[in-house]
Amino acid sequence: MPPKKKRSVSRLTVPQIVAMKSAGQRITMLTAYDHTLATLLDSAGVDMLLVGDSLAMVVQGHQNTLPVTLEEMIYHAEMVGRASKRALVVVDLPFPINHQGVHQTVVAAGRILKETRCQAVKLEGGADQAEVISALVTAGIPVMGHVGLRPQAVHAMGGYKVQRDLNQLITDATAAQDAGAFAVVVECVPAEIGEAVSKELRIPTIGIGAGAGCDGQVLVCNDMLGLTTGYVPSFVKAYADIGNTIKSATKKWCADVKESRFPDDDHSF
Ligand code: KIV
Repeated sequence: MPPKKKRSVSRLTVPQIVAMKSAGQRITMLTAYDHTLATLLDSAGVDMLLVGDSLAMVVQGHQNTLPVTLEEMIYHAEMVGRASKRALVVVDLPFPINHQGVHQTVVAAGRILKETRCQAVKLEGGADQAEVISALVTAGIPVMGHVGLRPQAVHAMGGYKVQRDLNQLITDATAAQDAGAFAVVVECVPAEIGEAVSKELRIPTIGIGAGAGCDGQVLVCNDMLGLTTGYVPSFVKAYADIGNTIKSATKKWCADVKESRFPDDDHSF
């Protein structure tokens, strides 16, 4: 009998993600920061993985996303890029790279694509970032925009607040699209605004706290898995309780060691 051929998984491409909008297929994206979780999420069939700068809060324990550096983003993106077989992997440009001029941004995004195995970058902003987006796209770097609540502008925005200015949102999302972005994250807006922006654009909107009218959805994976130890936003639905599973497994293991039940004969040489 001839040997069984290994089924090769092909990676979703930027044009395929864009085409999902006109095909009426919802798009899924989750954040990932390391090899183990990225492997699991990828094999479960998520369409895109985002190495979000939320890793500053989720992994590093900072108060906001501002402290994470380009080197740290590249370090984590490399792990996720190596894990992913099917999902398109998008990496956040950390604060304040995209405000340091077009040249600096192209150099930083170029490093991300060269040094990790990821396929696209995301940057926060819309109309104010049109020139930067256009330069990245000209360099062959796919860009995802990010409008509505922009966590990197938390101080300027006066906190993590729902954004309600429909005109501003449409201006920003349209500017990102016209500059060449292939998709745009819409964060923390009323559901009817998320829907209106999605109807206005040719490119997919990926909502987070932006209602069901967006073309896709993204969540921080730790929130979705019930692994977050601190505050979880009200728009999150946890689909598992991994945090408590980890706690109870750890308690059982500690008790077994303390009471000499582990290791037993089955787990010894
Ligand atoms: O950094 C991140 O996790 C994000 C998502 C919240 C979209 O930008």
